[in-house]
Amino acid sequence: MNTFLYGGDYNPDQWPEDTWSKDIQVFKKADINSATINIFSWALLEPEEGKYDFSELDKVVKKLSDANFDIVIGTSTAAMPAWMFKKYPDVARVDYQGRRHVFGQRYNFCPNSKNYQRLAGNLVEELAKHYQNNPNIVVWHVNNEYGGNCYCENCQHEFRKWLKDKYQTLDALNKAWNMNVWSHTIYDWDEIVVSNELGDAWGPEGSETIVAGLSIDYLRFQSESLQNLFKMEKQIIKKHDSEAPVTTNFHSLPNKMIDYQKWAKDQDIISYDSYHTYDAPTYKPAFLYNLMRSLKHQPFMLMESAPSQVNWQPYSPLKRPGQMAATELQAVAHGADTVQFFQLKQAVGGSEKFHSAVIAHSQRTDTRVFKELVDLGHKLKRAGSTILGSTINAKVGIVFDWSNFWSYEYVDGISQDMDYVDSILDYYRQFYERNIPTDIISVDDDFSKYDLIVAPVLYMVKDGLAEKINNYVECGGNFVTTYMSGMVDSTDNVYLGGYPGPLKNVTGIWVEESDAVVPGHTTTVSLKGKDYKAGFVCDLIHPEQAKVLAEYSNEFYAGTPAITENKYGQGKAWYVGTRLDHTGLTQLFNHIVLESNIESLVCDGDKLEVTKRVTQDGQELYFVLNMSNEVRNLPQKFIGYQDILTDKKASDKLERWGVQVLTK
Ligand code: GLA
Ligand code: ZN
Repeated sequence: MNTFLYGGDYNPDQWPEDTWSKDIQVFKKADINSATINIFSWALLEPEEGKYDFSELDKVVKKLSDANFDIVIGTSTAAMPAWMFKKYPDVARVDYQGRRHVFGQRYNFCPNSKNYQRLAGNLVEELAKHYQNNPNIVVWHVNNEYGGNCYCENCQHEFRKWLKDKYQTLDALNKAWNMNVWSHTIYDWDEIVVSNELGDAWGPEGSETIVAGLSIDYLRFQSESLQNLFKMEKQIIKKHDSEAPVTTNFHSLPNKMIDYQKWAKDQDIISYDSYHTYDAPTYKPAFLYNLMRSLKHQPFMLMESAPSQVNWQPYSPLKRPGQMAATELQAVAHGADTVQFFQLKQAVGGSEKFHSAVIAHSQRTDTRVFKELVDLGHKLKRAGSTILGSTINAKVGIVFDWSNFWSYEYVDGISQDMDYVDSILDYYRQFYERNIPTDIISVDDDFSKYDLIVAPVLYMVKDGLAEKINNYVECGGNFVTTYMSGMVDSTDNVYLGGYPGPLKNVTGIWVEESDAVVPGHTTTVSLKGKDYKAGFVCDLIHPEQAKVLAEYSNEFYAGTPAITENKYGQGKAWYVGTRLDHTGLTQLFNHIVLESNIESLVCDGDKLEVTKRVTQDGQELYFVLNMSNEVRNLPQKFIGYQDILTDKKASDKLERWGVQVLTK
């Protein structure tokens, strides 16, 4: 992409043609320069099988091209037309309860239906042929927000093949899943069934399982099945248009069902849809943007976001004056190279008619939201080309791993409060509040470029990972891990010999038991002479080589270690045996950050969010955001800097939601 895109989803097919020109004029007022089209138009494009009609889409493409818009073109395969359900019922998913979908909704195609694959492939072939070499098409947008699982016969059939490939023999599979428990031994491949509510899974949408090995494999398989659909569409597009990058939009907080790290290599560019509840702390979106940027270690597209309200959250307050621009620029601060909305024109009907848009129901431009969109548009017009392609250099990596996500949340016992994302956020917040750039990395990333790696609840440690961590620390790296780590291998069987299994060496400890802290009780931990609250679980730790940094100060294990530090080779490893509260963790990280020689971007940036992006020419761009409730002073370092959003000198105060992008 050569332009900083400012735009979003536009559905002119929901509107009379004679309104389109006026829409475009309005967009231009806000310096909107791009539109994402054709996301859900399958029924229009192929009214009956094999009969394609692109005449309306042609007109839309022409209209936008004539207005010099960059176009992000969808492939329309995420919502299937009615005739398809009628003619080929197997295109529809079977849900977790074993019920087959009928016509309706969207995102309910079976990824292993040969009919769906053929029909989607044919449509994409026609589209790609038809729109190849169109200079205004700058990105291909495949499907939309892939996710969810199917439990149908086709999927079951393919799953058995997938397992045969993975385990080769039934002996290996039975051993991997430890099938002697509850008489689960499999004697024939066709005895394997999908893990739905009628089989080994239970709880809402399969949140629990009897055989975690099976259920985790099913999630891996489903994620791969959807990924194969993406790859199929992408290959077809590439045959006809080898230039424009191909993406599909990632989403949620993050989406549990899709292993985005595995998908990332197939995406030309990562794109992300960002929607947060009104009460989400500001470090949460920041964490997700860092995750998206780290998937390819490249800038990403902010494919969707709401100009103000959404319609689908339990409560959707208006974005407060200034909040929209601040939240969009927050994404840019952490690596987004586009600002795009859902959507450009508010619908008259359908479930999203009360979702905010650039052109609202009033269809007026003298509104608060529209004026704010204009202001942001002017700023991005000024600064976008400078920001485009600039990168972030982080010395801290926080490990996030989808297999771990799945296995950790399938654990039965010892507490029902296993929330992987929350545990990671505790640690991310430590860096967010200190304005320390952080990558969110996979277990397969190169560790050597980081001075500090934090791997909270690294419950599942696959083959080779412990050696990789040992090696990293031996060579001088600093490593933090926590309770519920090093417990199982990649098929979810426990490492014997004491927790944290293969991480015992590097941490220099072993854990004998883990207590669950029950509601209403608090454990306290004494760190540097002060007591801090802790909860969730408390590991009973035996230090071997490690030294003790903090001890429990109540319960029968008072006086035993809660946090340890181990010198290992040239580096250090910390083990945090309980879920410390935020102040306790802050105290601990004052120590760890210092020991690891990690620096904040500014020393007086308290309650400000500060990030740094560096352009290809080495120009440093500091994003300074005031996401707090009060007016804040500009950090000293930036006095005299220039704000590229306004082309004015940096102002020494930042109002609530104030943002400056500063350079020397
Ligand atoms: C998702 C979808 C869009 C739209 C928005 C509404 O992100 O991709 O089609 O439904 O949500 O917030
Ligand atoms: Zn299926």
